[in-house]
Amino acid sequence: MSSSHAFVRFLVFGIALQAGLLFLIYENSKASRLLLIDLDFLENLKTEDCRWDETKRIKIGVHVKDRNRSTIDTTRFDVEFYDNPDGKDFLEFYEDGKRIIPKRFEARQIGNFKIPTNIQRFIEFYKRSKFVECLGLEMNRNKSQKANQNGPESARILARFRDELIDMEMYPLLNGGTLLGWYRECSVIPHTRDLDFSVFKEMYNPEYAEKILRNESAFRMSRILGQLEDSYEITVVSKKERRPKIDLFVMYDYVEGGKVIYRYIPGLKDDGSKYRYTHLLLEPSCAAEMHGHLFWILCNPIEQLKHEYGPLWYLDHPTSDFKWYSSANNVQKVGKFSKAEMKKYYLHFS
Ligand SMILES: *[C@@H]1O[C@H](CO)[C@@H](O)[C@H](O)[C@H]1NC(C)=O
Ligand SMILES: *[C@@H]1O[C@H](CO)[C@@H](O)[C@H](O)[C@H]1NC(C)=O
Ligand SMILES: *[C@@H]1O[C@H](CO)[C@@H](O)[C@H](O)[C@H]1NC(C)=O
Repeated sequence: MSSSHAFVRFLVFGIALQAGLLFLIYENSKASRLLLIDLDFLENLKTEDCRWDETKRIKIGVHVKDRNRSTIDTTRFDVEFYDNPDGKDFLEFYEDGKRIIPKRFEARQIGNFKIPTNIQRFIEFYKRSKFVECLGLEMNRNKSQKANQNGPESARILARFRDELIDMEMYPLLNGGTLLGWYRECSVIPHTRDLDFSVFKEMYNPEYAEKILRNESAFRMSRILGQLEDSYEITVVSKKERRPKIDLFVMYDYVEGGKVIYRYIPGLKDDGSKYRYTHLLLEPSCAAEMHGHLFWILCNPIEQLKHEYGPLWYLDHPTSDFKWYSSANNVQKVGKFSKAEMKKYYLHFS
């Protein structure tokens, strides 16, 4: 489908939306803050089919500051208010409690409306937007304990990595110690040395690793471990800050008798031992904030944290005592690569 064709269809829709003076808004202002957020309507826009059931209300976002300046035909439109907070990289919608989506999407202005240009991406954002609050427990750490990372800086670097993944149509999840730190402390755990993301296998795009290896990324490759079929992870570092390391794990379905029993992410030790970290089958539709940045999570994170770190998940464990291949409660050893396999599946880059 050519983009000019698409644009004509947008225009048709824009005109249809404006028809009959459904909106009397921003009479003195051209800057529109109306967002089309109806996922069914947007799905329709993606296809060649331009028909729309006129009796169905269309969901739109109206900026909270325009609450009193707009007259909206609520028989035609289902209004959700939203805000565009300064210093945060997401929009907040006051729907189902709260929903947040990244600000970083392009939209076309059609009449009063902003319509997302990359419709599929906007749908993906909205599908995983249900806001979950972190706990913010006071950890009372020994001040002389060494900190390896700084929360706001690490969150900023991780958000930059998130954006590169989004550009490859991958929607990463906070994982492991990074999920624990966000939920427990609303930050990264200062004595940990890395950051963890995971991405579902069906979403993983191998072209991204090639891009990094071609030096077309703000990150450089540190290592590539495992096989894409069942045990893959990459580790990257920001070219600018050089640390912390960021692990991106592929998350796999474990299927038995035709049914997905659990999900897992892989681990690989330098002697070839392969591990699996089991993950509960939680809903992938939630979003979190860490230092002003949006990150996606599986809903009910506390269930996974108990599964992974046990009933005392809220206590601090010094990183030096934590063995990644045995300390977690959800780890199982599942096999071993031969020496020959390790040459292919245990790659470090300088
Ligand atoms: C909108 O109007 C209500 C009542 O008229 C008022 O309390 C509120 O502050 C107004 N909101 C804004 C954003 O102007
Ligand atoms: C804090 O850590 C230092 C050095 O690791 C140790 O000497 C000190 O006793 C610790 N203090 C507390 C209150 O745990
Ligand atoms: C990678 O790209 C940067 C510019 O983006 C350049 O400065 C650097 O020399 C490149 N590195 C290699 C190894 O080609």
